[in-house]
This record gives sequence, C-alpha cells and structure tokens, in this order.
Amino acid sequence: MAKLTFTKTLNVILLGPPGAGKGTQALAIAASFGLRHLSTGNLIRHNIQAQTPLGRQAKEFYTRGEYAPDHLVVAMVKEELCARELEKGVVLDGFPRTVAQAEALDQTLAEFCQQVDAVIEIRSDTEEIVQRTEGRRVCPRGHSYHLSKNPPRVAGQCNLDGLPLQQRVDDQPETIRKRISVYREQTQPLLNYYGKKHLLRKVDGSQSIEDVTGSIQGILSALDAE
Ligand code: AP5
Ligand code: MG
Repeated sequence: MAKLTFTKTLNVILLGPPGAGKGTQALAIAASFGLRHLSTGNLIRHNIQAQTPLGRQAKEFYTRGEYAPDHLVVAMVKEELCARELEKGVVLDGFPRTVAQAEALDQTLAEFCQQVDAVIEIRSDTEEIVQRTEGRRVCPRGHSYHLSKNPPRVAGQCNLDGLPLQQRVDDQPETIRKRISVYREQTQPLLNYYGKKHLLRKVDGSQSIEDVTGSIQGILSALDAE
C-alpha cells in the first residue's frame, strides 16, 4: 500500500449503509495516511465475544440488527480516543451513526483541540449491498472478504493473520434488511448535519475496491492542499 503524506491532523468519518465498504476502505485509508482505524462494529463484536458488561448490554441490539444505545457507544469511543494520543488522526468507521453521537464526537475532539475534517459518504445500491453482506466472511480481528468479489488467497483463511473466516451473525438476509432500514431512519439525517457544515463528500461505492480507495485518497489529498 503506497504511503501518502498529509501534513495536518486528519480526522475522517466514513458513512454508508451496511456493506457499502466502510471497513474495507477504512483499513486502506488508515494504512495509506498513517491514521488510526476505529470501527465501532469491531469494538462491539470484540466486547460481545469477551462477554464484557458493555458486550452483554449491546448483544441483543447487535443480533437484531439495531443500533446499540448512544450512551454505550459514545462511552466506548471516548475511552478509545482518550487511550492513546491521536497523533496524525483517526478514520472513524461506523461512528457516528446518530446526530447525538455526532454532537458527542465534536465535543470529544474539541477537548483535544481537534475537529472532524472530512465525512465521506460511500454510496451503493441496495441490491449490491445485500449481495456483499450475504457473501462476506470475516476473520476474528475484523478483516473482511467476499466469497466471490474479494476472496482470500487461501479459501476460509485471512490473508493478513491466517485466522479462520466466519460469517457474521448479523449477515443473515432478514437482519441485513433490518440494518438497511435502521441506517435509512437513523443515520441518513447525519448527511444533512455534515452537509450544513460543508464537510460531506460522496464517492461511488459501486466501483472496484481499488477505485473507491483512489477516489477517497484524491478527496483527502485535495483537502491537505487547501
Ligand atoms: P458494523 O460492523 O459497522 O456494520 P455495518 O455498518 O452494518 O457495516 P458493515 O460492516 O456490514 O459493512 P461495511 O460498510 O464495513 O462493508 P465491508 O467493507 O465489510 O456494525 C454492526 C453493528 O454494530 C450495527 O448493526 C450496530 O448494532 C452496532 N453498531 C456499530 N456502530 C454503532 C454505532 N455507532 N451506534 C450504535 N450501534 C453501532 O464490505 C462488505 C463486503 O463487500 C465485504 O465482503 C467486502 O469484501 C466487499 N466489498 C467492499 N467493497 C467492495 C467493492 N467496492 N466492490 C466489491 N466488493 C466490495
Ligand atoms: Mg464494517
């Protein structure tokens, strides 16, 4: 992965429906700009697996394809952001998802004298994202593959850490439909929130993985030149 330089601190949010490619792109963008990758979905799955108090509270929502309560997710993100220096910045994958979460994020970043620098909406149509989520397989560390669109080099095994790939419990057809409707109801209003702040940029998520990465890199590099 080619390293790109960004001279300022960069805090970028990836928005998009389930299966749009947030996780795939967050990894690529974090690697190319040297940023931290923070995925609330991965954090919740980790807490559920480790049976922490937070995991126990979030599990029923996660399994039904609903959002975990704002206060739980905000507390989890604050803890992660405060645990280490923000250094060059962070790619937020799946957070915020509600206006209340966005307001809490603005407050938390302000405590570090930082702000949200860009919000990238990855757009994709419903049929495509249903196919992507149904065929997705993930490793326990959150690396994501697709049986036909993005297969691992060795079937059933993560390219990066060799761990076995599994299907997520929320990638069943009914739960996927539920997650898409929850996104429309609760997260689409955020597009307006960030649009008003002139932070929102859109990319076509139906392109190849590499082309989506290139589009996002182009947007972020142009920001650095401003
Ligand atoms: P989360 O894990 O974030 O799930 P999601 O938002 O539903 O998004 P996905 O992870 O399903 O998709 P993605 O956009 O990351 O796509 P990916 O890159 O994997 O959250 C899960 C749950 O946790 C939520 O439902 C909720 O319960 C809870 N939660 C999380 N955050 C929360 C918050 N802030 N507040 C409250 N609750 C929260 O790609 C998908 C597939 O497509 C992969 O197989 C990939 O290989 C393939 N692919 C990707 N890009 C392309 C491409 N361009 N072309 C072809 N294939 C592609
Ligand atoms: Mg994801």
